[in-house]
Amino acid sequence: MSLLAVNGVSKAFGSLQVLRDVSLEVQPGQRHVIIGPNGAGKTTVFKCITGLLPADSGSIAIDGTDVTGMPAHSRVSLGLACTFQKTNLFSELTVEENLHLAVTARKPYRFRIWKPLSWYEDLQRDTRELLQEWDLWSRRRHRVDELSYGEQRILEIVLALASKPRILLLDEPTSGMSPAETARTTSLIQEMPRSVALLVIEHDMDVVFSIADYITVLHHGEVFLSGPPEEVRGDERVREIYFGGGARPHA
Ligand SMILES: Nc1ncnc2c1ncn2[C@@H]1O[C@H](COP(=O)(O)OP(=O)(O)OP(=O)(O)O)[C@@H](O)[C@H]1O
Ligand SMILES: [Mg+2]
Repeated sequence: MSLLAVNGVSKAFGSLQVLRDVSLEVQPGQRHVIIGPNGAGKTTVFKCITGLLPADSGSIAIDGTDVTGMPAHSRVSLGLACTFQKTNLFSELTVEENLHLAVTARKPYRFRIWKPLSWYEDLQRDTRELLQEWDLWSRRRHRVDELSYGEQRILEIVLALASKPRILLLDEPTSGMSPAETARTTSLIQEMPRSVALLVIEHDMDVVFSIADYITVLHHGEVFLSGPPEEVRGDERVREIYFGGGARPHA
């Protein structure tokens, strides 16, 4: 069964039809990348999946559970996590404090005043492991607003992982990053455990082809083509709509 199934989702803003009958599936552990020109409707698909926006028609299921009418937090409890184009961090807290909050959010007893000692030990250990694993240990005492924009976006991805999601949505994880930060983010994504499936919106074709094992092309709110990277890379029509016929995707 698919971990995520989007079935025939349509969405309009007033008279502007932004999504038309969009269907896509994400399998466990898959690296599924959505590409498409600006305004194609990619972020809107994410918002319908997370529950930030209601779809006008169609349905969405997470691991077989129909979540179409469910609020966003119920979808999170089914294992969905996401980061959007805009960062969403507590900028006056340190890297470590931000991670503490994210790890705490998924722990049992979080609303109890008295917690077992093991709870604090687990919290410290999980936070330390995440910091070390994602190369943020030396930055742990820095306030988030002292980090570069790229580092802040990397921290966002790590925070999303702290909830131990089964499916993680990343909306343009490398946008606005320096080439070095883009490379670091790409390897971070490549190294993520396969226990997490990824659905990623990405414009940078180097990044797309180094992470994707499946690609969906959106164009004018419709799925134009979907398939393995080799198929999409070789498709002249995709080149035409996405690259205006000029630029060529390169690996
Ligand atoms: N809340 C809204 N109200 C009205 N129109 C909207 C709203 N959100 C998005 N749109 C419009 O819907 C279309 C699709 O937007 P969306 O953000 O999904 O595109 P996108 O593929 O993510 O583009 P980009 O690559 O620029 O991020 C655009 O024409 C956009 O202007
Ligand atoms: Mg977008």
